[in-house]
Amino acid sequence: MSLRLGDVAPDFTAETTEGTIRFHEWLGDSWGVLFSHPADFTPVCTTELGAVAKLRSEFDKRNVKVMALSVDPLDSHQRWIGDINETQQTAVNFPLIADPNFEIAKLYDMVHPNASDKFTVRSVFVIGPDKKIKLTITYPASTGRNFDEILRVIDSLQLTANYSVATPANWKHGDEVVIAPAIPDEEIPKRFPKGHKRVKPYLRLTPQPNL
Ligand code: BEZ
Repeated sequence: MSLRLGDVAPDFTAETTEGTIRFHEWLGDSWGVLFSHPADFTPVCTTELGAVAKLRSEFDKRNVKVMALSVDPLDSHQRWIGDINETQQTAVNFPLIADPNFEIAKLYDMVHPNASDKFTVRSVFVIGPDKKIKLTITYPASTGRNFDEILRVIDSLQLTANYSVATPANWKHGDEVVIAPAIPDEEIPKRFPKGHKRVKPYLRLTPQPNL
């Protein structure tokens, strides 16, 4: 069965380009992003791993650890990383899981046989400090991911985990947020002292509370 939001991200032990990793232990108290690639030495994946390496400081700022998976062996990964560093002008700075037997890919339902039974799709799992899955996104092999969007969603997840708010369409860090419907009008001034706009009884906006 596929993994759903709120499920505990399955634990595993993996061989990676940074040694053997026990996933939950490696995550510790951090947030995590686990994302899969169809195969080594493929063009879109090469650009994706380079893009994530360049965003490493953005993930660090948010206390997020990043790990990638590709269903090829470790020696292939090491050679491929040389190409990624060369062509994307960066240095891959996060672990890449070698999963030649598809064990972790199957555990995380990253193989979608009607798309391909030989390659994983481009799955993304964002995992909270409680080890629960907060977000899943699936892209086809032919479409590279937008990692700025993944950072944007992490900003929303981390904000809404701590405040009774939700983020509206196209929200980005610094924009107004929506007050959760469960908060009665009379509690708003105390809980959101920066002020609010009552557009409709169910649509109440307030400045981002953690700024
Ligand atoms: C790629 O990463 O470039 C790719 C992988 C599989 C199919 C199509 C593109």
